[in-house]
Amino acid sequence: MRNIIRIAFLVSIALVVSEDVEAAEPEQIHLAANGNKGEMVIQWGTIEDTWNFCPSSNNVEYGFDSDNLNFTKSGSSDMYLWNTCTHTVILTELEPNMTYYYRVGGDGEWSDIFSFVTLEENPERIVVGAIADHGTSSNAQETTNNMENEDMDLVIHAGDLSYANGAGSGNGIGDQSVWDEYQNQIENVASRTPHMYAPGNHEEDAEPYGFDAYESRFFNPGPNSFWYSFDFEFIHFISISAEHDYEPGSSQYSWLLNDLEEANENRENVPWIVIFAHRPMYSSNGDGDGHGSDIEFREAMEILLYDFQVDLAVWGHDHHYERTYPVFEENVYSNNSGTMTDPYYKPGATIHIVAGMSGRSAYDGLVEPKPAWSAYREVAYGYTIFEATPTSINYKFIRNSDGNVADDFWIINTLEVDLPIEIPNNRTTNETDDETIIDQIKELNYNSFALTTAIVALTAIFNLKVRKK
Ligand SMILES: [Fe+2]
Repeated sequence: MRNIIRIAFLVSIALVVSEDVEAAEPEQIHLAANGNKGEMVIQWGTIEDTWNFCPSSNNVEYGFDSDNLNFTKSGSSDMYLWNTCTHTVILTELEPNMTYYYRVGGDGEWSDIFSFVTLEENPERIVVGAIADHGTSSNAQETTNNMENEDMDLVIHAGDLSYANGAGSGNGIGDQSVWDEYQNQIENVASRTPHMYAPGNHEEDAEPYGFDAYESRFFNPGPNSFWYSFDFEFIHFISISAEHDYEPGSSQYSWLLNDLEEANENRENVPWIVIFAHRPMYSSNGDGDGHGSDIEFREAMEILLYDFQVDLAVWGHDHHYERTYPVFEENVYSNNSGTMTDPYYKPGATIHIVAGMSGRSAYDGLVEPKPAWSAYREVAYGYTIFEATPTSINYKFIRNSDGNVADDFWIINTLEVDLPIEIPNNRTTNETDDETIIDQIKELNYNSFALTTAIVALTAIFNLKVRKK
């Protein structure tokens, strides 16, 4: 059916005669990251009078002074079965810790002037926003407005972006103008902070487009729009997709295995690994079919997250906020509170976040009782944001309704001893007599101190005996 509709669209496009087509006004300005220091990807849309080709220009003028945009860079453009053209220009050799002003377009059609700030040469910390299941509702707009007030270096989005999925159209045809509306709605944030996306189910279900809009409108550093990775200072970010084959043997699985191997070997330079994708491996939301923990996805890929000690996994799909304890195969690895005074020290397993509360209608069907692996959950609109240094991550969920920090936790990865990583035997947070990871750390530190003291004492005695001789 999809192919028939596609062919019909292609035929109708071929019938469009494009004469005297002029450049269109740039809109939907947004930034992306490509993993290279000193570079910034700038994208924007133009709504054209033709479906055949992209007549508008692909230029960026930029500089340190909004009155003097003395540098120019050109790029490329792309269209899909719609008349929105997406332009991409990659700025290179940017200086650290500078405000760059820029405008996009050309041929008499230029955007307003926007700006972004480059990272310091060696920043002590970076701030990352993380959302999912956004859309264009008033709640979604409130989230965007609140995020405008944050000073973020990057935003990751775990899928279901615009909801241009045709659900309300009555015929299943995805209204692609919803993408334009969405991208204009987030322009104030996305034009100054790079945004990186993972694909959700609603990126695909707009007949006859499938993932075409998602692939055409957003930059990715490769190998494709669905699974890709990039370094951003202290963090190796990975986007994966439960909308595609993820079983062992699939190209996605093989790619992830290889990417994680390399990232894990590079911990000395990039200490954290954060994965983001749409369907949650852990969620205690029971609101309808297809929600809650995606067990198949988890059974296929969680082992990779554990084996390579992925620090954080950010998901969407369920429209609430949830944080797990460090967990693998539903076994909890640390029941520390995660607070500043009792953080997750080298947790031993991945901490999972559901961040699907950014605007799409809330799901309030949380299952009871709360699973042992669930540390905190709340049904409220808002956004999450975390501050990372090479040794710590402080993660927060900010509620829209009152602007308060609803959840706040810490992960610390600095310890001089490695923890014994063993799978606890059905350990749960309710087993209070269990030794926590922090107790194990204390014990290891104590043993190490005792051993060092013994060696020093024996050496001193030995030296004394040598001297007497
Ligand atoms: Fe979804």
